[in-house]
Amino acid sequence: MNTVASALRTMDDLMLDGKRVIVRVDFNVSAGSDGVVDATEDYRMEAALETIHELRQRRCKVLLMTHLGRPGEEDGILTIEPIQRRLQQLLQEDVRLLPKLYGSQVDAIIQGMDPGEVALFPNVRMDQREMVPNDGFANELASAGDVYINEAFSVSHRDQTSVALLPKKLPSAAGRRTVLEVEILSKLRKHADRPYVAITSGSKISTKIGVLEYLLSTVDMLCVGGKIANVFLVAQGRWKEPAFTEEEVAIAKKLLDAHRDKIMLPIDVVSGHEDGAEKKVIELGQGADIAQPVWDIGPKSVAQIVAVCKQAKTIVWNGPVGMYEVPAYADGTRALAQELATMQSNRIVGGGDTITMLGSMNLISAFTHVSIGGGAMIEFLEGKILPGLVVLSDSLYGKN
Ligand code: 3PG
Repeated sequence: MNTVASALRTMDDLMLDGKRVIVRVDFNVSAGSDGVVDATEDYRMEAALETIHELRQRRCKVLLMTHLGRPGEEDGILTIEPIQRRLQQLLQEDVRLLPKLYGSQVDAIIQGMDPGEVALFPNVRMDQREMVPNDGFANELASAGDVYINEAFSVSHRDQTSVALLPKKLPSAAGRRTVLEVEILSKLRKHADRPYVAITSGSKISTKIGVLEYLLSTVDMLCVGGKIANVFLVAQGRWKEPAFTEEEVAIAKKLLDAHRDKIMLPIDVVSGHEDGAEKKVIELGQGADIAQPVWDIGPKSVAQIVAVCKQAKTIVWNGPVGMYEVPAYADGTRALAQELATMQSNRIVGGGDTITMLGSMNLISAFTHVSIGGGAMIEFLEGKILPGLVVLSDSLYGKN
């Protein structure tokens, strides 16, 4: 049977020297309102640096392609310039900004690039044909390069043109970081030393049912935070929150009925105004005793998670346990990060927000592995076929 590393085509399987290489990266990081991407967001960019440096040494023209946000769905800064500026600082090299995703003007600029030069395409999601695989768009994107590298493990769960179809149009392979992610997560998928504890959160329980069911079928204890924990609290009758639908509460009830002993819920929570004003810790008794908005888990809940994690040999953490963007409600996530950072067990962390938080606390290197993927990490662990990976392999998912 193939190992994962040999199942994926890697950069060693391609003729790369001197080629125009399209590298699909995931630089989906946030810029502040001042248009600056700060160092706490570096991790995803740093993850691609090994591949970028190697390609530069091999005199390739390095053509980086990323998405940014979800145009049309979310607000935010969707222009690529803040990313270009931060990347230049990290590479200590100029990075050219290409004016379009394809076309004769782009071809001419790439033609004029020196070997080893780096260029960045505009946000690939600004073209609506990115979101659903589109053959014509894939051909247009492919015309700029000779070779395609996936250095975007974290978006490999999306069936989108530049992730799942473009690699079929060119000789393609996984970048160095993508191979590492697949190796580490495959090992965990095959075998986890027990006790195995997961910590998860999220905003909508309806989009997380699959993940929750998978985790509950795999781990010994699932610690739940974030808005999802609140739905469970409503389902238990501990919180009267009209914001959740009957369907959401029914999902939580069903999961509790099936896995009550494996689901660890907060025993105290932090409430107050959305901006952090009048924050207070509320201990949960047996009855329906909270009627205010809940934004974070309290110190006793953190202690309860830490105690179970201290006994664990494997820990997977995906998602802040509170609304960490508001400093008043970041205490739970920060305290948890501090404690987990000191443990010796196999600790795998994933998810953009969690990475940002760990980055801001300088704790990334304290964990066994910090995956650049959030959704992609969990879907990979779940054994789902990732459209961006399956095209880089004939056997990763057991086809041969
Ligand atoms: C992420 O930030 O998790 C990835 O970049 C994927 O982004 P998406 O959820 O908008 O597809």
